[in-house]
Amino acid sequence: MQVRDAQFLVSNTDYQACPPPDKPEYAFIGRSNVGKSSLINMLTSRRKLAKTSSTPGKTQLINHFLIDGSWYLVDLPGYGWAKVGKRIRGGWQQMTADYLKFRPNLLCVFMLIDIRHKPVKNDLDFMAWLAQEQIPFALTFTKADKLSASQGALHVADYEKELQKTWAELPLRFVTSAEHSTGRDDLLSFIYQVNQD
Ligand code: GTP
Ligand code: MG
Repeated sequence: MQVRDAQFLVSNTDYQACPPPDKPEYAFIGRSNVGKSSLINMLTSRRKLAKTSSTPGKTQLINHFLIDGSWYLVDLPGYGWAKVGKRIRGGWQQMTADYLKFRPNLLCVFMLIDIRHKPVKNDLDFMAWLAQEQIPFALTFTKADKLSASQGALHVADYEKELQKTWAELPLRFVTSAEHSTGRDDLLSFIYQVNQD
């Protein structure tokens, strides 16, 4: 499964200025540095389409990418980055929340979690907020190459166990590595399926 064409379109601070909402759209959210931009590059097989950095806080705007002329991927700023001031952080949060709430063609949000991390409050709160706003999302574990396959499976199982304490039904889950292209076919198949529905 391959993306044929991927183009960066535009960056925005306001969801109302984003490209016309006339195509299926998928966005990536999660803590700063979790690998949102890297996952977009992995899915599109383009090394430098979305800007990545080992320093958290790289992505600061709503970035639209047009894929095969027919659907959008959207890179968003991360949350939980301590170094930015409260005022800026508040602005990013409002911008991202408004985008997620009001973008009419947003079909699914990929909620990224570093596979090595245990469930933490800001991620759990964010998922609860997505559910409350009825924004469809899929849990997406990143950086699977940092653990052995068996360790990774254990971490995912622990995470699921924690979610089951409060969630009646678990969201869809993907395990990915931008480094090894793990999970690309699963994610793209899912997207193509949703595009057709
Ligand atoms: P912000 O834009 O700051 O919110 O970060 P982000 O979530 O977009 O993360 P980004 O894609 O910029 O990646 C952060 C760091 O993690 C970079 O140094 C990446 O090379 C690294 N990284 C991302 N994905 C993977 C992965 O699957 N495996 C490994 N080993 N490193 C990864
Ligand atoms: Mg980024």
